[in-house]
Amino acid sequence: SLVSMRQLLDHAAENGYGLPAFNVNNLEQVQAIMQAADECNSPVIMQGSAGARKYAGEAFLRHLILAAAEAYPHIPIVMHQDHGASPAVCIQAMRSGFSSVMMDGSLLEDAKTPSSYDYNVDVTRRVVDMAHAIGVSVEGELGCLGSLESGMGEKEDGHGAEGVLTHDQLLTDPDEAADFVKRTQVDALAIAIGTSHGAYKFTRKPTGDILAIERIKQIHARIPNTHLVMHGSSSVPQEWLDIIREFGGEMKETYGVPVEEIVTGIKYGVRKINIDTDIRLAMTGATRRFLAQHKSEFDPRKFLKEATSAAKDICKARFEAFGCAGQA
Ligand code: G3H
Ligand code: 13P
Ligand code: NA
Ligand code: ZN
Repeated sequence: SLVSMRQLLDHAAENGYGLPAFNVNNLEQVQAIMQAADECNSPVIMQGSAGARKYAGEAFLRHLILAAAEAYPHIPIVMHQDHGASPAVCIQAMRSGFSSVMMDGSLLEDAKTPSSYDYNVDVTRRVVDMAHAIGVSVEGELGCLGSLESGMGEKEDGHGAEGVLTHDQLLTDPDEAADFVKRTQVDALAIAIGTSHGAYKFTRKPTGDILAIERIKQIHARIPNTHLVMHGSSSVPQEWLDIIREFGGEMKETYGVPVEEIVTGIKYGVRKINIDTDIRLAMTGATRRFLAQHKSEFDPRKFLKEATSAAKDICKARFEAFGCAGQA
């Protein structure tokens, strides 16, 4: 059944675990996540981005997740809007039945204009007021996702009002986080700690200077009762990069967020961990391998079955590592 995000994250906090939030765009991704959750008895967060709505259409996206709830009635499921860019996007998602929305008011903040913080507080608080009136949860975001290696945020060119952003300006500020949560009353807060979306996060295995796990501890110490969210949390498995390369794909050397670093984050208040890229890599690798090895096959179900199975293995591994297996 569909539940609010708040319900799941409160339970996760009480019991000291974290929940992966997987992005979904199609039937196979939904099935992979549900098969994995069913096998290890985990609650589920499925989220749709603006790109997912554009790809599948809102009705298909919604009904795929509702079908999951019908097929697996014993598994609690959150249907979450990922990176809502405006109150209007969040209202649309709420109207169509999403049980949780993200109001990402941090997009302007990447430019660090004086009014960007006030804008973020204002739009986020407005969405919270509407959402809480109907039992929907809200995730906000504070800070700039992007590379500490290059000193650049991903949405901007790294040149704010005062020039190139320093490492510290990219990260979420603990005092600002406390003020933001107090003023907006968000249910969960996405923080910037050096990760970015996509496959190319780090050019080497990340250490503390480029992946700021320390900052999670500082934020958690300041707002211990706030559920923290890590975006850009794919681990970018080297074995899937190798399989993609072996069967004709081209991927440059790259590193993601090690699972053990996420597990440390979970000890310090991280409750929601966003993962999209890992599923993409596994599905692409499995598809390339299958088609290369079965050159006369033309039934899409055959390679999609391989892709689903590869995605399912990734999901299961994350459910187990984050401690949510057995918690449904
Ligand atoms: O927020 C980033 C997610 O990975 C969604 O990506 O916009 O390509 O659907 P997308
Ligand atoms: P990845 O690209 O690391 O999977 O992150 C996804 C994400 O943060 C979606 O909001
Ligand atoms: Na941001
Ligand atoms: Zn994200």
